[in-house]
Amino acid sequence: MLTAYFLHRVLALLFLLLIPLPFVSLVKRRKKTELGSAVIWLNIIRITNLGLVVVLISGITLYPFFSSIRTWVAIVLTLAIGGLLGVLSKQLKQYILTGDQSSRLNLLQRISILGFSYIGVIVIIFGFMSHWYQF
Ligand code: HEM
Repeated sequence: MLTAYFLHRVLALLFLLLIPLPFVSLVKRRKKTELGSAVIWLNIIRITNLGLVVVLISGITLYPFFSSIRTWVAIVLTLAIGGLLGVLSKQLKQYILTGDQSSRLNLLQRISILGFSYIGVIVIIFGFMSHWYQF
């Protein structure tokens, strides 16, 4: 139980690593320069995805009550994060593979929109988690 508590809180911090991505993409798009760090961001997403699985399992271990609406809200938010991570990594892979300048600019725009949506869900989930027993 203590391990789940520790893992849940510490691994949740991994989600913060992606926060700069939409800002960096936006600046690169405006300046029409390359996102040289695309591979690094892709690897951060891979690590975050692994963290997501552990955060989900440890969260359910901490609160194994499936008749509670809280659990379902947490699961839906977690799945939303998982989905956003999946689409973000797809866009980054396309960015790395394509050589076409205008497709790259479009991809940077998509990456920043998806990244800002990701930040929105992260804010909601952290707010929800830190008021867990008030809901
Ligand atoms: C992306 C997904 C998640 C993130 C980022 C996350 C993050 C966090 C964080 C940072 C805390 C500590 C809050 C604080 O004390 O201020 C917390 C607490 C908690 N989380 Fe999550 N969580 C996630 C998913 C889940 C899921 C799926 C469940 C269970 C269904 C869950 C159940 C809990 C519970 C019960 C607590 C309160 C622990 C306590 O104080 O006794 N979490 N979560």
